[in-house]
Amino acid sequence: MSETNAAVSSVMPTYSRFPISITKGEGSYVWDENGKQYLDYTAGIATCNLGHAPASVKGAVKEQLDTLWHCSNLYHIPIQEQLANLLTANTFADQVFFANSGAEANEAAIKLARSYAQKVKATSAYEVVTFSQSFHGRTLATLAATGQEKIQKHFAPLAKGFRYLPYNDNQALEELIGPNTCGVLLELVQGEGGVIPADPAWVKEVERLCKEHDVLLMLDEVQTGVGRTGTLYAYEQYGVQPDVMTTAKGLGSGIPIGAMLATEKAAAAFEAGSHGSTFGGNPVAAAAGKATLDVIAHTEFLAEVQEIADYFREELQTLVTQSSAFTDVRGKGLLLGLGTSGKAIELVHQARELGLLVLVAGEHVLRILPPLNTSKAEIEFCLETLKQITIV
Ligand SMILES: Cc1ncc(COP(=O)(O)O)c(C=O)c1O
Repeated sequence: MSETNAAVSSVMPTYSRFPISITKGEGSYVWDENGKQYLDYTAGIATCNLGHAPASVKGAVKEQLDTLWHCSNLYHIPIQEQLANLLTANTFADQVFFANSGAEANEAAIKLARSYAQKVKATSAYEVVTFSQSFHGRTLATLAATGQEKIQKHFAPLAKGFRYLPYNDNQALEELIGPNTCGVLLELVQGEGGVIPADPAWVKEVERLCKEHDVLLMLDEVQTGVGRTGTLYAYEQYGVQPDVMTTAKGLGSGIPIGAMLATEKAAAAFEAGSHGSTFGGNPVAAAAGKATLDVIAHTEFLAEVQEIADYFREELQTLVTQSSAFTDVRGKGLLLGLGTSGKAIELVHQARELGLLVLVAGEHVLRILPPLNTSKAEIEFCLETLKQITIV
């Protein structure tokens, strides 16, 4: 019996793990304990955006390990300041709060929205509006923010202060802002919820209503961020100006980091003591974040992502016409989904046997998240593998 067999594992079974153990990763590939190679088109769930162990990030992390591993946020940390400067220089934001994960970044955003309403606007508003099929994390506040019952089941009582509306629904926007609303939290592509992009006109209307009522527009770009959709952040493609945005996953290329970005106006709601995190913006994580953005936050790099994404999407469209397993292509940039005519998880298992790792997003969607620097040859392998898998 393998040491990592679920029957003998001491790790809590909070994930239904696939029956392989990954022991090595390099570029677009990972290897299991038996030496079998897989093309990793999960990228650690939109995290290893430059592939596994990218040289420049590895170099920056190693250098940081030789200099300073950890330092309390009671002191200024130059590498953290540099990452914050890079984030603000490349986005709408003026200030950054560092956390360690997407859920924590969203927690910070929820707190900021309440504090903005209560401290800056001197109201008693507390409610954050989110959307059906959204995903914002697994902490008690972010699972309450998440518009999916299966995520909330057995965790009653849910944290108060969240209201849910249908996604991409113009009529429902009449109810967007209520007397207690302090913020609207939104994914521009619902990743976990089925790879569903937001309708641009609908997002514009959400923005207009938020501005009209001085309610914070908060974008959860944890999955869509750091080049995943072909621009550094997806909001650039929607022509909207959020007040707050969260980012994590791809920011550290696999080293844990999260961040909540805000305009100066929204950030005024936080002062010394409002929020904190021992590890938030840790020097090693910040070094990984800076080295990641040093590669991704460039027009030329992002143009290449868009080009390869367009190519891949066209090829997937052709696949849909050729294979009865797939019904449609969806998503943005390299956050791609294939609708499936049967259970997507069955196809994931078949693909893995053939050396390709992909994910599901709901019962009938296969989610494909290549590293942003993937090659046409790798895409070819993916397409050939997808052609071979069938609904049984
Ligand atoms: C849109 C979105 N928000 C938040 C999260 C939670 O991030 P983390 O798992 O880093 O807490 C995720 C994770 O999948 C996500 O996709």
